[in-house]
Amino acid sequence: MFRNRVQLKSILSAMLIAASFTPAMLSAQKASPVAPRRELVESVVREAYDKFKDDMSGKNADYIPYLAQVDSKMFGIAVVTTDNQVLTLGDVKYSFSIQSISKVFTLALAMEELGADKVFEKIGSEPTGRPFNSPLAVVDMPTHTGNPLVNAGAIATTSLISGKNAAEKWNKILDFYSRAAGEKLALIDEVYKSEAATNTGNKALSYLLAKYDRIYADPFESVDVYTKQCSVGVNATQLARMGATLANNGVNPATGEQVIKRENVPEILSTMTMAGLYDGSGGWAWHVGLPAKSGVGGGIVAIAPGKGAIAVFAPPLDEAGNSVKAQKVIDYVAQRLNYNLYSPSSVGLK
Ligand code: DON
Repeated sequence: MFRNRVQLKSILSAMLIAASFTPAMLSAQKASPVAPRRELVESVVREAYDKFKDDMSGKNADYIPYLAQVDSKMFGIAVVTTDNQVLTLGDVKYSFSIQSISKVFTLALAMEELGADKVFEKIGSEPTGRPFNSPLAVVDMPTHTGNPLVNAGAIATTSLISGKNAAEKWNKILDFYSRAAGEKLALIDEVYKSEAATNTGNKALSYLLAKYDRIYADPFESVDVYTKQCSVGVNATQLARMGATLANNGVNPATGEQVIKRENVPEILSTMTMAGLYDGSGGWAWHVGLPAKSGVGGGIVAIAPGKGAIAVFAPPLDEAGNSVKAQKVIDYVAQRLNYNLYSPSSVGLK
């Protein structure tokens, strides 16, 4: 029936890809006027998957030993729209460590607890233009305000979370992430142990913050809670749903829960634009025009406000610590779907 094995293989792989698209869940919240058409997103995501699946440029993070041995070939794409359509393709069941993408949600939690103004006063939201682990990101700022998405600012943000001890803060963070994902998330213990054994740089940053009075709990305890939050496991679908919660005014599109106050969403998204991809943020804004956040675990989530979120998992990273394949896929999809936030045509202006 099949002329050759190659033909059989490509038919089987097309069937597998088709089968992995999950049907839209029926619990959709009220429809967004700008939520995208399913067939369109489906075909564009498929194109992107095929176009980039063999691109192996970049290299796994290795400063956290666990991450160096994650299979570099894994590749998953998930889209969750504000009306809760769910589209998935590739390795979307694998639980990878959320890493720096966690910083967005700890920022959101700090804003829930303290209000946006207090967080801005204590942490700030200036683009640092520096690598994610930069001590200069702390030293350079004349007022010593920072950015909650680079390690130093993120550790300071974690230190703002209330709780009578580290365990209570950590549980609160994990519960908040789970509500954003619409599913119970858990720590990947091996990632935590691997990172905790090697995070001397982050410990140094916490003491540098202390020198400027810019950490608000015990420095090492704050690094430990931060290390745990970075070691939370998510799959691409869960990550896309966390992003879709931001795209949907803070309401999780699957559960209907208002997880993040709607008035905090614009500040969170603008912070992602400033520093979501670190020293790659300017180029990203120029080319793609969507708030996004990367993690050295290989995930990136990008938000199209009002429309939805796309999460891509592919471990090899560029020099700035951002997944190479994820950037290419999101760029491709955002261009084809006309999602660039800075383009007036993205909201229908002809
Ligand atoms: O603190 C660290 O270095 C890691 N836990 C997180 C860094 C990270 O994900 C940078 N993002 N691309």
